[in-house]
Amino acid sequence: MATSKDYGLGEHRFPRGWFMIAGADEATTKPQAVRFFGQDMVLYRGETGTPHLVEAYCPHMGAHLAKNSTSYIVLDGEQVQGDSIRCPFHGWRFDGKGQCDHVPYSKFVPKAAQLKTFHVVERAGIIWMWHDEEGLEPEWELPSFGNHYDAPGWVNWKIDFMGDLPVHGIEIVDNMADFGHFVPIHGAMDFTYFANEFKDHIVHQYYSAGHRTLTAAEGDQLVLDTWYEGPGFLQSEMAGEYDSFIMIANTPIDDGLSRTWHALMVQVHDGSRETNDADRAAALAYQEGSRLAFAQDVEIWQNKRACLAPLALPNDGPYGKVRIWYKQFYNPRAQAETFQKRVNGLVVTHDTRPDSKAA
Ligand code: FES
Ligand SMILES: [Fe+2]
Repeated sequence: MATSKDYGLGEHRFPRGWFMIAGADEATTKPQAVRFFGQDMVLYRGETGTPHLVEAYCPHMGAHLAKNSTSYIVLDGEQVQGDSIRCPFHGWRFDGKGQCDHVPYSKFVPKAAQLKTFHVVERAGIIWMWHDEEGLEPEWELPSFGNHYDAPGWVNWKIDFMGDLPVHGIEIVDNMADFGHFVPIHGAMDFTYFANEFKDHIVHQYYSAGHRTLTAAEGDQLVLDTWYEGPGFLQSEMAGEYDSFIMIANTPIDDGLSRTWHALMVQVHDGSRETNDADRAAALAYQEGSRLAFAQDVEIWQNKRACLAPLALPNDGPYGKVRIWYKQFYNPRAQAETFQKRVNGLVVTHDTRPDSKAA
C-alpha cells in the first residue's frame, strides 16, 4: 500500500474534511468498534438519540470500550446511560463530552479521566465525522445533499458498502479528471462535454455523454454535475431516465487503505402524490444500476498497483491539477489557499456540443 508520504501529499498522514464513518442505523446503544484515520474508536448512540464517537481505549487501564461481550456491564445492558458510556472493565462512566462522571467504587473522580471525543453529525441517514489533524473546528459546513433526503417525490438512498480497498484516497479522487476511462470502463458513448472546475475546497466534473444501457432511448445523454466538497465524498446531480443524486464516500482506515460506500436517491414523481411500492422498487433498481457502474471502478482499485505519477496524456484530463487540489487537505489550513490558487478555474477536456465554438 502506498502512503500519503509516497504520493508526496504534504505534512499530514490523513486529510482534513468531512468523512462518512457509518450508516445511521449502525449507531445504536450497543457500542461499535470502528477504525478510521489510523485510530481505534467507538461509535454509539446515546439514549437521547445523539450519536457519539470516542477513542476506543479507557484512560483508566486501557480496556477497549466496545470489544466486549462477557462483562456483566455489557450483559446487563448498562453500557450506555443517557449520553454516557461505561467501560466494561471497572465500570468508569464517561459523558458525551468524554469526561468521566462516575466511578462505581470511588467518590473521587479524577479530572484526567477524559476520553478523546470526535466531532460527528448525523445527516441524510449517515454518520459524518469532521477529521482535522490540527484539531480545529470544521473549515466548511457539511452539505445538505441537494435537500433531496426525505423530500417529497424522492426515494431515500440505502447505503451500499463497497469494500475496504487497498488504495489511497488520491487514486479514488483521480476519477474526477479521468476522461479516458468512461468509454472502456463505464460504457459511455457519444461524449459531448467533459470539463473540471476547481473552486477552493470544491472540484467539479461536468459531463455529458450517452450510455450503452443507462439512458432511456438511443441518442439520449446522461448529464451530470459531480463534485467533491473536500477529499472525502463525491456528490452528483444526474439527469437521465430519472433525476437522481449520487453519493460516493471514501474514508481512510489506515494510510493507504480506504473504506468506500455508494448511495443514490431518486426522484420518482413531482411530490403531488403518495410514493408507492412500485416507485420504491424503481428507485432501488436505479440505485443498483449506479452501484454496478461504481463497482467497475472498485474492481480496478482492488487490484491495481499504486500510481505515484501517471504517465499522462493531454487528453487524459487534468489529473495533475486534481492532485495539487487534493494536497490542500494534507497540509496546515493556513497553506490551503496557495494550493487553491494554483488550480482554481475551468479546464475543458472535451467539447463537441453543437453550440460550442470548439466543435
Ligand atoms: S479500564 Fe476502563 S474502567 Fe478500568
Ligand atoms: Fe469511474
